[in-house]
Amino acid sequence: MSVQAAAEADASGKQEPLLSVRSLSKAFGRVRAVDGVSLDIYPQEIIGIVGDNGAGKSVFLQLLTGNHRADAGEIIFKGQRVQVTSPKVSRRRLRIEMVYQNLSLAPDLRVWENAFLGEERRRCGIFMDVRAMQEATGEALVKLGAKVQPNDLFSDLSGGEQQVVAISRAILFQRELIILDEPTAAISLNKVEEVLRTILDLKQHGKTVLLVSHRLEDIVRVSDRIVVFAHGRIKRVLRNEGIRVGDLIPIMFGND
Ligand SMILES: Nc1ncnc2c1ncn2[C@@H]1O[C@H](COP(=O)(O)OP(=O)(O)O)[C@@H](O)[C@H]1O
Ligand SMILES: [Mg+2]
Repeated sequence: MSVQAAAEADASGKQEPLLSVRSLSKAFGRVRAVDGVSLDIYPQEIIGIVGDNGAGKSVFLQLLTGNHRADAGEIIFKGQRVQVTSPKVSRRRLRIEMVYQNLSLAPDLRVWENAFLGEERRRCGIFMDVRAMQEATGEALVKLGAKVQPNDLFSDLSGGEQQVVAISRAILFQRELIILDEPTAAISLNKVEEVLRTILDLKQHGKTVLLVSHRLEDIVRVSDRIVVFAHGRIKRVLRNEGIRVGDLIPIMFGND
């Protein structure tokens, strides 16, 4: 099927969006990094985001994660407008888990310690509930099909396995939307498949995923819809039905 035939999509409106953004904008001085972006994201969708360097993909995600504040526009979670003033608000109110490219986890700690980093479970508000955290980590990793053990040293894992541990936080903390910005950029090629499979597993567990990648073959492999950014705006939204990598490139770089 040609790209022209692929429906320009807004997911047919059969359910309420999990998250909607309306006319979201963010400028840095004269640079309109994100310029009037509107998008509905539906539950259990995997949305692939592509676009040239500087197209505004990362800044768009950072508006959702509270790392930047929008100059204008709205973010609506399950029908309710949310002022995303900080990463904490993003995690708690939008139920977003951001998986960073450099992971910002601790190599010298164990897998379970990284899984709970910054969100440690305590008994009576004081004592770390180590056993509970180890067990929960093990269960989350099993759900994601990972062979990693909770007590493994984080630095002994491959880059792909480390990504999976970061992603497991989405399960542990009941996040609904997982955001990955170039997750496979820093890992070896033979581990990419592991991360892609984990993304598909997240969807099976009811999660919604936003994936930014310059690896278009990854985007085409896992996405339900593909959003093309250019110059801070959404240029096209494509339902991923029969789309090939070669179809995306002219849309990303062409000036239609
Ligand atoms: N913290 C920042 N300060 C100033 N300009 C920024 C900042 N972050 C991004 N930009 C600019 O915003 C635009 C969009 O950047 P970005 O979202 O990182 O692009 P992408 O992720 O699509 O490659 C670029 O022109 C970039 O230089
Ligand atoms: Mg980026």
